[in-house]
Amino acid sequence: MGFTSFKSNVEAGDIVIIFMGHDSMFPLYVKKGEISQTKFGAIKHDQIINHKYGTKFTCSRGWVYVLHPTPELWTITLPHRTQILYTADISMILFQLDLKPGSVVCESGTGSGSLSHAIIRTIAPTGFLHTVEFHEDRANKASLEFKKHGLADYVTVYNRDVIKLGFPVTSVADAVFLDIPSPDDAISAAANALKQSGGRLCSFSPCIEQVQRTCTNLRQQGSGFKDVQVFELIRRSCNVKRVFVPMADLGLDNDEVRSKVVGESNVLPSVTQKHAFCCRTCVLPKETYGHTGFLVFATYQPN
Ligand SMILES: C[S@@+](CC[C@H](N)C(=O)[O-])C[C@H]1O[C@@H](n2cnc3c(N)ncnc32)[C@H](O)[C@@H]1O
Repeated sequence: MGFTSFKSNVEAGDIVIIFMGHDSMFPLYVKKGEISQTKFGAIKHDQIINHKYGTKFTCSRGWVYVLHPTPELWTITLPHRTQILYTADISMILFQLDLKPGSVVCESGTGSGSLSHAIIRTIAPTGFLHTVEFHEDRANKASLEFKKHGLADYVTVYNRDVIKLGFPVTSVADAVFLDIPSPDDAISAAANALKQSGGRLCSFSPCIEQVQRTCTNLRQQGSGFKDVQVFELIRRSCNVKRVFVPMADLGLDNDEVRSKVVGESNVLPSVTQKHAFCCRTCVLPKETYGHTGFLVFATYQPN
């Protein structure tokens, strides 16, 4: 069920995403006989069992859609126990770490499991994730969540300090991911976990000072790492709008120019718009999502 493969109908025991709008969704564990409240009224779980994912259900004050869970929807609906990674950074991480079905990955810390869900979907059904979290309660909650989401076959959560004790496996990982306050202190732990034939490392850090220390340690002679690269992803959406663009006076009659540029049907009638033509363009929004963090990537090639 769920995060690693798709199915068409909702069953008891599934986790589903209740969609009430793009900024209003929540995850729901479906149980026979239960009733859950939404801002649009109650949903009876028995009402949605056996229906197709994507079905629209009418409640007393509105409607909701029942969506199939995906790592992307989980990222925007999960219970936050820590800061989490979002889909833009996650996409870059999966791509740059060259993850695919069968990859073995070591991660620390697990945090709220946002990235872990996306890693597991990418490496399943033959890969494995070893994820290390030193906060006991977070480690237990993540472990329970993976079980409830049907992911237990693809992941083990270890409650330990990755800096003091390293990863629990040696020379098996195709990739290592670090999202901890001092990744520079975990470079040798990462090297020990990676395969001797080589692999990829990524470290996520909000501050440039963390990045500087990490890059210094990665570039140290004998570290085994090379090709160090740093990225920052800034998400910027573009609104497509109709605008009036002033026309240059090329010595021709403006009506003639306009009809050549936009066609007779679009000739603008008003006097004030006489020396402009209308087109669609991309307008940047006034507010954009800000900085999330820096992504440091490196290749491990010990010999
Ligand atoms: C920002 S959260 C990770 C969020 C995660 N990437 C996600 O997408 O949900 C950082 C986590 O690293 C854990 N952590 C910090 N230092 C650690 C260490 N030395 N060993 C293991 N875990 C550590 C913290 O307890 C915290 O849960």
